[in-house]
Amino acid sequence: MGAGRYLLAALLALLHYDLARGVAPLLCSSTICAINPTLNTIILEKPYCFYTSSSPVTVALYVARNSAESNKLELTNTYYTTDRGRSAPYVAATFKNPVCAGDPTTADIGEYVYRVGDNENCFNLKFCNGPLLNNTAYRFLYAFYDTSNVLLYQSSWSAPITTKQGKNPSSIDTWPGARSGGMIVLTSILSVLMFLLLAGLVAAVITSLMTQTKELEPTRHESRSTHVPQKSEGAAPSLSGSERYSTNPQP
Ligand SMILES: *[C@@H]1O[C@H](CO)[C@@H](O)[C@H](O)[C@H]1NC(C)=O
Repeated sequence: MGAGRYLLAALLALLHYDLARGVAPLLCSSTICAINPTLNTIILEKPYCFYTSSSPVTVALYVARNSAESNKLELTNTYYTTDRGRSAPYVAATFKNPVCAGDPTTADIGEYVYRVGDNENCFNLKFCNGPLLNNTAYRFLYAFYDTSNVLLYQSSWSAPITTKQGKNPSSIDTWPGARSGGMIVLTSILSVLMFLLLAGLVAAVITSLMTQTKELEPTRHESRSTHVPQKSEGAAPSLSGSERYSTNPQP
């Protein structure tokens, strides 16, 4: 019986753990948000149906670098006081808890998602949603507060999401049309092939010209050879004996 009770307790603990970790901020899916994340921004789905309540609830979006020193939630933490989320999570924005109803459509995409890092200039804003660092992992959390800023519920931290890597400006090729290594190799091969083709063409032309002149020569030989036997017959007696019986045929 004792073991059964322990098992039940363990199961309940697991269930509680699952419920507590059930929801976390999600990256806006690629079917809706085409380019996400970018160098300085990450688009998240708003917390639909994370926390339902009839009384007014405010959602605070916390942003922290994955390597942040602290995970403590403070509504007063800002982009600047936390060194862009390096020391602790900061509040990037607050908005009304979205109404949990049906599937959001692409028509209300602005309502459905939130772009973190969108605010280039936010010196006078209470919550600064300043640009994120490139090639840096961030984590996000939604916290739900009542009108007197009492924490009602908080989601889990999202999985780390990394912004795109920026290119060093001096390494960017400014020539028109970027050329890759493969392209250079292909061009070289094509150049060599082109040269071989041209050389072959020239050789073919020269050979055909030479065979044309050779084809003319045998007719001249034939006309001459018809004459030669008559001449050699007449000249035969003048040949010496050794010449006459030599194994080499006379021309
Ligand atoms: C990317 O981040 C590095 C380091 O923080 C910075 O030096 C570089 O200028 C950034 N690149 C761009 C394109 O923002």
